[in-house]
Parts: sequence; structure tokens; C-alpha cells
Amino acid sequence: MSDYIWFEGIPFPTIGFKRETIEEVRNNFLIREEDTVILTYPKSGTNWLIEIVCLIQTNGDNKWVQSVPIWDRSPWVETKVGYEALINKEGPRLITSHLPIHLFPKSVFSSKPKMIYLIRNPRDALLSSYFFFRETNLVKDPGSLGTYIKWFLKGNVLYGSWFEHIRGWLSIRELDNFLLLSYEDLKRDPRRTIEKICDFLGKKLEPDELDLVLKHSSFQAMKENNMSNFSLVTEDTVTNGLKLMRKGTTGDWKNHFTVAQAEAFEKVYQEKMAGFPPGLFPWE
Ligand code: A3P
Repeated sequence: MSDYIWFEGIPFPTIGFKRETIEEVRNNFLIREEDTVILTYPKSGTNWLIEIVCLIQTNGDNKWVQSVPIWDRSPWVETKVGYEALINKEGPRLITSHLPIHLFPKSVFSSKPKMIYLIRNPRDALLSSYFFFRETNLVKDPGSLGTYIKWFLKGNVLYGSWFEHIRGWLSIRELDNFLLLSYEDLKRDPRRTIEKICDFLGKKLEPDELDLVLKHSSFQAMKENNMSNFSLVTEDTVTNGLKLMRKGTTGDWKNHFTVAQAEAFEKVYQEKMAGFPPGLFPWE
């Protein structure tokens, strides 16, 4: 059970976050042109994407991902620790964030970093976060999945509404320094999706290097990598053994939502997602 820091109507955990940092990040954090920014709503495959980008940078060599915790390789800018690490880091940075666009550093609009926005079926992101956060002290305990679905649909969950997150970030999807990817595409065709990331980052990999990126970013490899599987998360955050690598599939929500819950979700989804072009979301 935990309280939240409420920032402009959006709940953040009290552990690891500070109102002043969130404010400072938005107003004064300088994004640089040479930075690569990984953007997601929580539980959309953030860490998978970080692992892939790290492995692309090292041409598939896994020494870096096997020796440095994932949050040090690509810190979350809105956290206290991530912010401190990033402002002191020289050269091109990997930056991760779950912030909605209106809380993200304003400087992003005057520099031109490479931004990758990874989306996932919100039902799967919801289910993943339900199972993940209940093993932590970071959130209020919903008690049941049904309650959590209600909170999620209202945006009363960490980082606020999925629908607003999507609408905000997708409003800049035509920029040439913005790459839109989905968890579903990564699952269906990881090689092709990784090639797309390489093209976007301007990185040319040999076929055997690409094989290594695929191999070392697989679900099994990440599950066994203590630098990436969250087994190093400290005890002040975890109540009950934290597992990042839960199932790693698409559509698991169907095994957990009741028919009534699925219908209630669908109704809100249809209302909130009106106006997006058909074909944009692979889960539809
Ligand atoms: P599940 O809980 O559905 O298994 P995030 O990194 O944004 O917190 O997202 C975590 C989700 O991504 C979890 O989903 C996790 O299993 C999944 N994931 C992480 N690495 C993955 C990989 N290499 N392949 C497939 N899914 C992965």
C-alpha cells in the first residue's frame, strides 16, 4: 500500500520520485540532438526495447547488457536517480521515459533527438502492470483485477491515462526523428523490427551481428540476465520477488478479463480512440 505524488493530476510513486524533479525535468532538462529517447507507457515492452537498442549499439556483443543494470544503461529521466545520472553524462545518451508528452522535457521540441515510441495493446499493458506492481510498494493495492481495470480506464494508475499518453505522443508521429513501434510487431517479426530500428538509428549491422542482437534480446536471454530481469531491484521497492519477465506474449488479457470486463474496456476504448486512422494499431 502506498500513497502517490500527484503531479498535475497524474500519480507517481513516492519511492524514487520527487515533485521537484518532475518539475525540473519538464522545464529545464536539456535533451541533446545526439540522444536516443525510448518512450513508452509502462509495461509496453520498455526494457525489451532498451535491451535491443543497447545490443544494436554494441553490434550484438552482450558484454554491456551482461555487466550494467538496465536502468544505468538507459536511465528513466523522471526518477531522482535517473535524472542525476543523465545530467552528469557527457556524449550521446540513452534516455528512457514513461512521461506523457506534456510532462516531457520541453527542450525536446527545440533539439532533434531520435525518439522511439513503443506501444502495446492497452489490455496487455494493463494486465502486465497489474501483476507487476502488486509485487512492489509503488502503488495502491487494487485488490482485484476488476478494480484495477476501473482505475486504468479512469487514468488513476501510475503515469495516468494510457489513452492520453497515446494521443499525446502520437500527435508528433509524422516527425522524421520519431519512430513508432509496437510490442506486437516486435513479437511477430523481431528481425524486421530490429532492422527498422537500425535504419532509424543510422546503424548498419552485419547479418551475424543482427543474429546476436536477436539472440541476446530474446525473452529467455533477458529472463536469465540479472542486469535486465529486475532481480536487482532493492528491497525497499519490492514486497514479494519482482519479476519483469512474466510471460512475454500478446493477448494474455483474454485469459484474465471476464466477458463483462472486456466489454466495459472496449466501450471506453472505442470512445477514447475515435479519430485515429484505421490500421495504426496492430491489436485492432
Ligand atoms: P508481461 O508481463 O505481459 O509478460 P516493461 O519493460 O515496459 O515494463 O514491459 C514488461 C513486459 O514486457 C512484460 O510483459 C515482459 O514479459 C515483456 N518483455 C520484456 N522483455 C521481453 C522480451 N525479450 N520478449 C518478449 N516480451 C518481453
